Amino acid sequence: MTDKKAADRSLPLPEAVRAVRLWAVTAFRAAPLLVVVQCLLAILQAVTAPAQTYGVKLLVDGLTGRDAATIWLGSAVILGGFAVSFVGTVVSIPIQDTTAERVAGRVYRDLLDVTVSIPSITHHEDPEVADRLELIREQAWRLGMSFEMLLFAIGIGANTVAVLGLLGSVHPALLLLPLLGLGRVWSSYRNIRRVQDAIEETAPRHRMIDRLIEISKDARNGLEVRVFGLRPVLVDRLARLHDEVFDIQATALRRGALLDSVVRAAFGVVYAAAIVWVLARARSGQFSAGDVVLLILVAPQVDQLAGGLAGNVYWMGEILRSFGRYDWLREYAARNSWSDSRAPAPPRLTEGISFRGVGFRYPGSEQATLHDVDLDLPAGSTVALVGENGAGKTTLVKLLARLYDPTTGSIRVDGTDLRDIDPAGWRPRISAGFQDFVKFQFTAREVVAIGDTERMDDEHAVAAAIRRGDAEAVVEKLPRGLDTQLGRKFSEGVDLSGGQWQRLALARAFMRERTLLLLLDEPTAALDPEAEHVLFERFAQASRLAAAETGGVTILVSHRFSTVRMADLIVVMADGRVAEVGSHEELVALGGRYAELFRMQARAYR
Ligand SMILES: Nc1ncnc2c1ncn2[C@@H]1O[C@H](COP(=O)(O)OP(=O)(O)O)[C@@H](O)[C@H]1O
Ligand SMILES: [Mg+2]
Repeated sequence: MTDKKAADRSLPLPEAVRAVRLWAVTAFRAAPLLVVVQCLLAILQAVTAPAQTYGVKLLVDGLTGRDAATIWLGSAVILGGFAVSFVGTVVSIPIQDTTAERVAGRVYRDLLDVTVSIPSITHHEDPEVADRLELIREQAWRLGMSFEMLLFAIGIGANTVAVLGLLGSVHPALLLLPLLGLGRVWSSYRNIRRVQDAIEETAPRHRMIDRLIEISKDARNGLEVRVFGLRPVLVDRLARLHDEVFDIQATALRRGALLDSVVRAAFGVVYAAAIVWVLARARSGQFSAGDVVLLILVAPQVDQLAGGLAGNVYWMGEILRSFGRYDWLREYAARNSWSDSRAPAPPRLTEGISFRGVGFRYPGSEQATLHDVDLDLPAGSTVALVGENGAGKTTLVKLLARLYDPTTGSIRVDGTDLRDIDPAGWRPRISAGFQDFVKFQFTAREVVAIGDTERMDDEHAVAAAIRRGDAEAVVEKLPRGLDTQLGRKFSEGVDLSGGQWQRLALARAFMRERTLLLLLDEPTAALDPEAEHVLFERFAQASRLAAAETGGVTILVSHRFSTVRMADLIVVMADGRVAEVGSHEELVALGGRYAELFRMQARAYR
């Protein structure tokens, strides 16, 4: 095991306490009443058997001492115990399932909510944070099934207290017996860890085995497998891997079984000695007959308690660790909530958006992507960003959406640093269409309408956005129109071509009207140049009208000069810097990079 893994395994006490708290609070929030009832039932059920054992002791003492009151009390406790365990079992099974379901649902909801609530996307890209997120996602099922474990832990706690009480009531020295039980918990924990380590150790071999089987399954590989006579190679390799896996796991299990039997035997011998001790003293009258019976009856309970704890302590630890990570994520989200950004977004732009000495380096990346960007985007203008792949156009767009903050310098919106503007106020005032847009597996209507969640039910708004995105033809072809479920994951789902998806994504970007900033980052890359040109001609007119009202800025990234030349301002980017700025005519006259790229494309189309 590597050091890193070892460190990941141990959870410091304060964090463990917080994790337990989060665990309990999450369950309670999911279904307060059900959880409380379940916990009470768990405690009640856990103390039933010890209580009944005590009842038997009373009964025996009452019978031997001919004491009617003690006989009655003992009988009542025993019968009451039967009633409680019967009712408890009948009642708890159905609510336990309901509660577990609710808790799991709540955990998944909270997890999604926390992840999405973080205003920046840095956490998806910082490798260390992303790794942890991945772990949390992988282990979400653990958090989901945690409720049963929580009940179990509560039950174990109550059971331990009750059993200790019983033993202590006979003689305090007998409290040492459960300590031996702890030996079993320890050995069992070690065993499960050992098996888990073996599973981890054999994981690469399992992957290899899967790959070998895949090779033999695939028809495309069949040809080479046969021509080269690969059967012995494949079969021998598979057999060897299987043998290795078996050896590693069998060794772990064998060692575990040995340790376990030694510890159990030691427990049995010491417990038997304790019984003999009490029995001997009972003959001299120091202990009652009931005490002897009690000690004998408690033996299997102590064993069961140790066994139950042993079998689950590993998984309790794992769930606790998962909650520890989840707790870390919540803290990370709280730390990165940009709660200091309080300034409201302006109702309309009067000056525009300006970059002052903006530099940017991606989290986890060695080199800066943007350097010293100084740029003024006047209110109401349409700005085209051009430049080769990797020049930094998309990065600039992401900074404008405030998916990241600049590493150096600042972006100012009518003079206010974007860093100071409340993201909850800024985001609703911008809209965006990206080249690698999301293919939301929703209905066609929803795919567009989520562009403005405030107006999702507004039929006119959706229709207008579809018109602006030139997506009417796409919708007309759908079997159930706007109600068609999109995506292949559904049996009724319809999949679209790249261009059709793109038109819907563009319509989505046009859902919000009167935006302060519209970001269009190669949103029409899957369309042909003519379609793009027509679309933007229509769009440019509409956006000029809107801009007159809001002073909104439109940023358009495109490689097609027929589109680019329509912009009021063209920004040429190269190697993360602004190389040239001006109108189409100015830049052509300048005879620089833009003029050269323009000439090259014009020649290609001629
Ligand atoms: N998430 C990221 N992490 C690290 N580097 C990135 C990331 N995204 C982009 N880059 C790098 O930043 C540079 C600019 O990328 P980008 O802004 O996407 O360029 P463009 O949109 O002009 O093609 C590229 O060198 C790219 O490799
Ligand atoms: Mg790009």
